[in-house]
Amino acid sequence: MPSKNFSVHTRSPIKNYNKKISVDSDKSISIRAFLLSSISEGVSKVSNVLESEDVGSTISCLRKLGVKIKKLKKQEYEIFGKGFGSFFCKKGTKLNCGNSGTLARLLIGILSSNPNINVVIEGDHSLNKRNMKQLILLMQEFGATFYPKNKFNFPLKMISSEMPLGINYVSGVSAQLKSAVILAGLNSYGNTNITLDKISRDHTERFLLNNKNVLTVNKNKLKIEGRKNIHKFKINVAGDPSSASFFVALTLLMKNSILKIKNVGLNPTRIGFYNMLKKRGAKIKFFNIRKINNEPVGDIAVKSSKLKPIKASKDFYPSTADEYPILFVLSALTPGVSEFKGLSELKNKESDRILEMKKILKQVGIKMLERKGNVKIYGKSHINKKKFIKVSKTGDHRICMSSMILSLATGIKTQINDFGTVNTSSPNFLKVIKQIGGKFEIKKNR
Ligand code: S3P
Repeated sequence: MPSKNFSVHTRSPIKNYNKKISVDSDKSISIRAFLLSSISEGVSKVSNVLESEDVGSTISCLRKLGVKIKKLKKQEYEIFGKGFGSFFCKKGTKLNCGNSGTLARLLIGILSSNPNINVVIEGDHSLNKRNMKQLILLMQEFGATFYPKNKFNFPLKMISSEMPLGINYVSGVSAQLKSAVILAGLNSYGNTNITLDKISRDHTERFLLNNKNVLTVNKNKLKIEGRKNIHKFKINVAGDPSSASFFVALTLLMKNSILKIKNVGLNPTRIGFYNMLKKRGAKIKFFNIRKINNEPVGDIAVKSSKLKPIKASKDFYPSTADEYPILFVLSALTPGVSEFKGLSELKNKESDRILEMKKILKQVGIKMLERKGNVKIYGKSHINKKKFIKVSKTGDHRICMSSMILSLATGIKTQINDFGTVNTSSPNFLKVIKQIGGKFEIKKNR
């Protein structure tokens, strides 16, 4: 499923609206649903799953590893799990993770402790640039080997451990690394103990909560007892709070507008964006909150708001990891100096998100400064509409969507190249923009 190569062009601001929408399903949960079902015992069912390129890459890697996955209807799949250690493929098989860091890291977690795996892991232009050193060092502790030695980006050859042994790990801000350790620990001998130094998104843990003999949580300690089977799953995936954040931001920036978003995941480790903005005067409400598959889910109501400049300490980072590009847009259009701390990890996302957003904001005359992962944005209430924004190929979906919100909120003419990359997380983004009244033009690139 390669990204379609097209650019998006906008030339006018969106008009006030009062709408109800749904957003694309959660990417983190969809990827985990396929991975965890594949190593569980029995036939799992996943519905309302995100059908995006990252999830497509997950399905195709798993099929190459011998997992039977049947599509029942739109967004609904059956996964035939065979338990731990059951993945197999020919020596040297290439597993292409596309644009997805989550897939690459979590799949390597599973493969590291699955016997007889000898594969090449690769990705697209953006994923192949990302640094995997921390992951490699951790998986080496489980006994996996990676070639060439001292190369820390894909493509890489990976050979699984012959005798995986549980490890002790102190986790930081990365949920992907923590999840890779949990997954590698599942098929390792002995226990894997994780001390949660920072609280990052905890979907993997919530997936495993019903397996009380496998995962135990005691305050900030996680214990994974290796080589115990896990039960099959029945998962219904809610909307992605990160995909919703773009529409929430646009509504906040508009005049006299209201938006309701149905059925969005509200896991506390994912809603830093919302909590931070509420503190700065954003009229955002969560309602109809319920629990689905151990995950809180609810509806979001948002109204146009007059924001105060954003001040975000480094503690916000793990629960806001994917929302900084759109927060930078909000900061640029909010008069005053917004300040963010502890963002060094943003340089190793689908693009260097600080650098790319700095380039975009510079084009509309907004100053953004960065020093050692701390960012300052000098926001203005009025920016010159005669400017032009050109976003070059970044391979980063969130940079494309953030630029589109900036242009629709201001009416500044914009050309966003490589927009097909938005299909990695939010294939219905443009459809929803149209539904709320946004106008744009698509140009296919030859
Ligand atoms: C993700 C974790 C985050 C996030 C990414 C998805 C996940 O990355 O940025 O989009 O599904 O675990 P890190 O864990 O590297 O911070």
